[in-house]
Amino acid sequence: MEKVISGIRPTGNLHLGNYFGAVKSFVQMQNEYDCMFFIADWHSLTTHPTPENIRRSVRTILAEYLACGIDPEKAPIYVQSDVKPVLELYLFLNMNAYLGELERVTSFKEKARTQPDNVNAGLLTYPTLMAADVLAHKADKVPVGKDQEQNMEMMRLFARRFNRIYQVDFFREPQSFHFTKDAVKVPGLDGSGKMGKSNGNCIYLCDDEATIRKKVMKAVTDSGPTERNQTKPEVIQNLFTLLELVSTQDTYDYFNDQYNQMTIRYGDLKKQLAADINAFCAPIRERILDFQNNEDYLLRIAQQGAERATESAEKTLREVRSIIGFRS
Ligand code: TRP
Repeated sequence: MEKVISGIRPTGNLHLGNYFGAVKSFVQMQNEYDCMFFIADWHSLTTHPTPENIRRSVRTILAEYLACGIDPEKAPIYVQSDVKPVLELYLFLNMNAYLGELERVTSFKEKARTQPDNVNAGLLTYPTLMAADVLAHKADKVPVGKDQEQNMEMMRLFARRFNRIYQVDFFREPQSFHFTKDAVKVPGLDGSGKMGKSNGNCIYLCDDEATIRKKVMKAVTDSGPTERNQTKPEVIQNLFTLLELVSTQDTYDYFNDQYNQMTIRYGDLKKQLAADINAFCAPIRERILDFQNNEDYLLRIAQQGAERATESAEKTLREVRSIIGFRS
């Protein structure tokens, strides 16, 4: 079975955009591939989080991904910093990664521009650590968004270069897994096309009912249709797209007809949308709370994941050391 691996950057709580955009696909992938997921806490050090920050975000991500349906029996989920052989591979790869090519990576240039006081070496070598994450398990596929394409190219370059330098056919070149065909772009509540771009337009999976209602009722609308059967402007289409995701077909059709007949009352639509979003989120939210209140369980899952990932990475590293000329 093909091996799939993906790193999750700790960037706060999951929202509906993350869920329909990626997490739902991950949950499906675990049935079709040999998957592993990990929390990229080493990578997060490039922005200097506090220790408490790191501890909290690791717990949160674990609880939220498990609540969404990642099944650790099918797909181990681990914390990057628990799997030490990856660091050794990071060191080896860095010896054949060149300053010029690392400096040319767009996300590095972007960070160097936006945080000029913190252009650290970890930021520069972000692509080698990411390559080590994947090559350590000789994974075939990596589900990532478009923004990661350049990192994926660097990963393939490092794999090829290693093979060439040592005259081996050892690393395969991991391919980007474009799962976006099932992924849905979830619109924001502020009229923007995408949930998560800015604050105040997101519904988090852990939001309680009152919060969901408040956010949905404040969603941007217009002054109503001016013609029958007119094309919906973006802000209105956004609400209908959300209905499509969480409501029944009947509900969708009902409000769509009302819109086409120009009898729609946005307040009613929003009330229904809020109720349906809440019905969708409630079971996930309950599981998030359960997991968060069961730290022993989270710890056990992370430990089991770390054991499996360490075993897999250590196997690769034994061979890598020997190829390079080191003893294991
Ligand atoms: N760079 C990825 C992101 O920003 C996170 C990541 C780190 C990752 N290591 C990885 C993703 C390895 C896939 C494979 O989203």
